[in-house]
Amino acid sequence: AASAEETSQKEFDSLIESLPKIPNWARGHCYKYEGFWYWEDVLRPILSCKKHFRARDSDVILSSFPKCGTTWLKAIVYTIVNRDKYPIGSEDHPLLTNNPHALIPGLEWNVYYANNAIPDISNVPAPRLLGTHSPALSLGDEVMRSGCKIIYICRNIKDCFISFWDFVNKFKTEGADGVTSLDEVFGSFCSGEDVYGPFWDHFLVHWKLSLTAPERLMFLTYEQISEQPNHYVKKIAEFLGCPFSDVEEDAQVVNGVVKMCSFNHLSQLEVNKSGINKNGIPYRNLFRRGQVGDSKNFLSPEMMDRMDCIAQEKFSPYGLKM
Ligand code: A3P
Repeated sequence: AASAEETSQKEFDSLIESLPKIPNWARGHCYKYEGFWYWEDVLRPILSCKKHFRARDSDVILSSFPKCGTTWLKAIVYTIVNRDKYPIGSEDHPLLTNNPHALIPGLEWNVYYANNAIPDISNVPAPRLLGTHSPALSLGDEVMRSGCKIIYICRNIKDCFISFWDFVNKFKTEGADGVTSLDEVFGSFCSGEDVYGPFWDHFLVHWKLSLTAPERLMFLTYEQISEQPNHYVKKIAEFLGCPFSDVEEDAQVVNGVVKMCSFNHLSQLEVNKSGINKNGIPYRNLFRRGQVGDSKNFLSPEMMDRMDCIAQEKFSPYGLKM
């Protein structure tokens, strides 16, 4: 008899075959599933996760469009949630020796990824901290049915685009492929036909939920946290139901979280300088410059205008200022 995994894979094969498919500059092809484009080897785990993952009210899902500050958000949330077990400044703090992605696994990248297996995460102690780049997971039926909390981070699209272009080119050049120029990538990104795109729909589905159900979804931007890190670290802790006490505030714990998770601190740790993840990507590739507005050093004025116009046109009807 076919195993549960084999049955699922057959089901997924025929679903994937029926989806719209386009070539992708970064890797192979993308398939459009529930309104968003995915690589096949990411879509399969998404389908598996949608089928098998049972969300709990105590789960915390960190959702993001790629290159919008996922690593930073993971570091902050891990540090906040575990601050009793691992006080800031403790020598054995896991963030000192682990990349944030190793502490908070991505549903489609780590948890449901390997060998079509259906992982058992039922024994992971609450709150389970999980990441995803996929709206199909962060807003899927299973997640919405539960009362779990979702924190979403996005970013000015020009900076996001440059970060994405650089990151993908690094993994392409580490393999056999050469660098792809900005011009070649710009069109597909702006038309929404790139991985996890269209970016505007990605931002907007989460934005809308943050307006209708603010107790379920907290919507953040990279720029907000950059500008007022202490304020947003406190807000995140409140949202997660573990606010900082007066005693903690007096003891500068909020400041400690901000410093611990800062670009300068994390990027200088040995694990992030020389470690690599399970897919062979060096952790140092996750730490490029960490600056707001760096895209102006790469994009032409015309490209900047075009992206600003798209953002304005897509976001302003919904009151989202980006
Ligand atoms: P840049 O390429 O603009 O430097 P993600 O974590 O979603 O992949 O996003 C990566 C972006 O976040 C990169 O942006 C990276 O440098 C930046 N980043 C990573 N860790 C950070 C941190 N602790 N603080 C601020 N930015 C960080």
